[in-house]
Amino acid sequence: MSSQAYATPVVDSTAVFKDNLFAGKVLFCTGGGSGICKEMTRAMMRHGANAAILGRKLDRLTASAEELSKDTGKVCLPLQADVRQPKALQDAAAKTIEKFGRIDFVICGAAGNFLAPISGLSENAFRTVLEIDSLGTYNTIKATLPHVRATKGAYIHVSATLHYRGTPYQVHVSAAKAAVDATSAVLAVEEGPHGVRSNVIAPGPIGGTEGMDRLAAQGDAGRRQAALIPAGRMGDKRDIANAAVFLFSDAAAFVTGQVVVVDGGNEHLRTTQLPYPEAVLDPQSARGLFAARL
Ligand code: COA
Repeated sequence: MSSQAYATPVVDSTAVFKDNLFAGKVLFCTGGGSGICKEMTRAMMRHGANAAILGRKLDRLTASAEELSKDTGKVCLPLQADVRQPKALQDAAAKTIEKFGRIDFVICGAAGNFLAPISGLSENAFRTVLEIDSLGTYNTIKATLPHVRATKGAYIHVSATLHYRGTPYQVHVSAAKAAVDATSAVLAVEEGPHGVRSNVIAPGPIGGTEGMDRLAAQGDAGRRQAALIPAGRMGDKRDIANAAVFLFSDAAAFVTGQVVVVDGGNEHLRTTQLPYPEAVLDPQSARGLFAARL
């Protein structure tokens, strides 16, 4: 039987959740200019929220904000900011308040990734990814927490499943995402009594993302890999967006401090994305099997 015979459907959140679920609410999303975070923002806006999206590249952000506004009829504010700069995030939060008057939901999604073994990864490269993912998450929390407390809102942090085992070429991201998971748990415990929730979404292999373009096996090897996912297919960005809509909704009022893995069951099989040990012993010959860039 082909995997497509039993693949789970990909649905749009609007087919399941109320249109005006987030009417009057405001989302603040780092990394919202592209990929998974842009799709999460689109879903929140389709359900009535206005949004501010943050990133380093103003051109891309502006184009994405225009697209999202046009697509949803809601307002999307592009704000250039590097999450490694606390002041830039504080300014972005202030501009969001100036524009919309409130922040209900925050997605800490800005991240950096590339493939590199420990033997070839500089100390600065390791620090760079920790600064973007881990410190960037902390900086985002610090800049937004008073506003999120005021609305009794919620956080979602975008993590990964890479650090549940030793994933080759991903030491920097694994260390960074472990810190993100831990940060969210403490945030949930400290801020719960103030009415704030905090959860992590850990996406598995999601098609059409920069991360998977780099990490996933290509060609036949890629198709074999996708066929091994229990849900019968690669993830779609909308799968993550749907999880975000649920976690931000009142239906998740009793869900906090959790890591929600959205991976079609992939984690339970614990397959490696890269061919192992070939990718470690002989990266050059294994190169054609996976991402173009190593
Ligand atoms: N392999 C090994 N080291 C790399 C690398 C790679 N592919 N890419 C960057 N580095 C190293 C750099 O060499 C540098 O270390 P060095 O000073 O010892 O040489 C360090 O990482 C910082 O790189 P730099 O490009 O100066 O940092 P930056 O802040 O401008 O950008 C990233 C950092 C991670 C955002 C950048 O590498 C990038 O654009 N990555 C791809 C895009 C991306 O990550 N998208 C998100 C997908 S989840």
